[in-house]
Amino acid sequence: MDNKELNRRNFIKAAGIGAVALALPAGAKAANTSCDNKEFCYFVMADPQLFWGSKESWDKAIGFANKLKPDFVVVCGDLVNHWDDEKEIAAYLEVAAKLNKDIPLHNVCGNHDYKISEPESLGFYQTKFGDPWYSFVHKNNLFVVFESTMVKYGDENWKMYKWQMQWLEETLKQAQGKNYDNITVYTHYPLALKKADEPDEYFNLPKTRRMKLLEMFHKYNVKAVFSGHFHHNTYVRDGELELITTNSSGIALSQMGEPEQPIGFRIVKMSPAGLEHKYYSYEDLPEKL
Ligand SMILES: [Fe+2]
Ligand SMILES: [Fe+2]
Repeated sequence: MDNKELNRRNFIKAAGIGAVALALPAGAKAANTSCDNKEFCYFVMADPQLFWGSKESWDKAIGFANKLKPDFVVVCGDLVNHWDDEKEIAAYLEVAAKLNKDIPLHNVCGNHDYKISEPESLGFYQTKFGDPWYSFVHKNNLFVVFESTMVKYGDENWKMYKWQMQWLEETLKQAQGKNYDNITVYTHYPLALKKADEPDEYFNLPKTRRMKLLEMFHKYNVKAVFSGHFHHNTYVRDGELELITTNSSGIALSQMGEPEQPIGFRIVKMSPAGLEHKYYSYEDLPEKL
C-alpha cells in the first residue's frame, strides 16, 4: 500500500464514508507530451462553478483542452456552485468525462464544493471529485494540491485541519531530497491578491495563517502557488515565490476597480529552468501549444 492509498483509507475512516462509494481520483496516469521532452504545458482553470458558470463554458474549456492537448489540467476549485446539488455535480462530471483519456484532470476543492462548517463533508466531495489534498509527480516536478477553505475558516484544533497541515509540511519536507526541477502548489483561495503582507479580506487567506504558509513554501523552495476564487486574474511576487490567481473559466467578476476580464484559463509551460504562464480568454487561445 503506498502513502496515497494509506492517506485515502485514513481519510475515509475519519469522514465516515464507506470505501465502496469511492471512485479513483484523477491524475495518476502517465500523460502525453505536448511540448518536448524537457518542456511541457498544462492548463490551470478555476471556478467553472456550475450553474453560476454555464455548462457551455465548462464544455468549451474542456473542448480546448482536447484540441490543444496539454499534459494535464488542474481546476482550482469551485467546481460547482452548490456542493450538494446533484444536478450541478452531474453536469461538471459529465463534461469532465469528455476530456481525452490521456489528459489527467486534477480537481482542487473550493469553498462551494463542500459544507465549510462541517469538514466531514469533504468525504462527500471525495466520493465525487477525488481527494481534497494530494500530490503528484510529472516529469520530475512535484505538484501539491491542498484544501484552502479550511485554512480560511476552519479551527486549527480540527482533526482534519491538523492532519492536512502535517501532511502538507511532510510532503514538502520529503520532496527536498528528491531533486525535483519545480515544486508548485494549487489551492482555491489566493494567499494574497496584491502583496504578501496585505490585510485580511474576503478573497485572501487570513494573514497569520498566510504568513505561516509563505514561510513553509519559501523554506521548501516552492516556486509558485496557483489559485482561483477571485474570478479575476491577479499576481503577487514574494521574493522567489509567485502567487498566481486565475480568472474563472465560467463567470468573471469586476475586482480591484478593474472591469471583468473575459473568461478563459491559464497555460503554463514548465521546464527544468522554471515556469512561464499566461492567461488566455477563449477568444485568444493559440491554435496549438
Ligand atoms: Fe470560491
Ligand atoms: Fe468561485
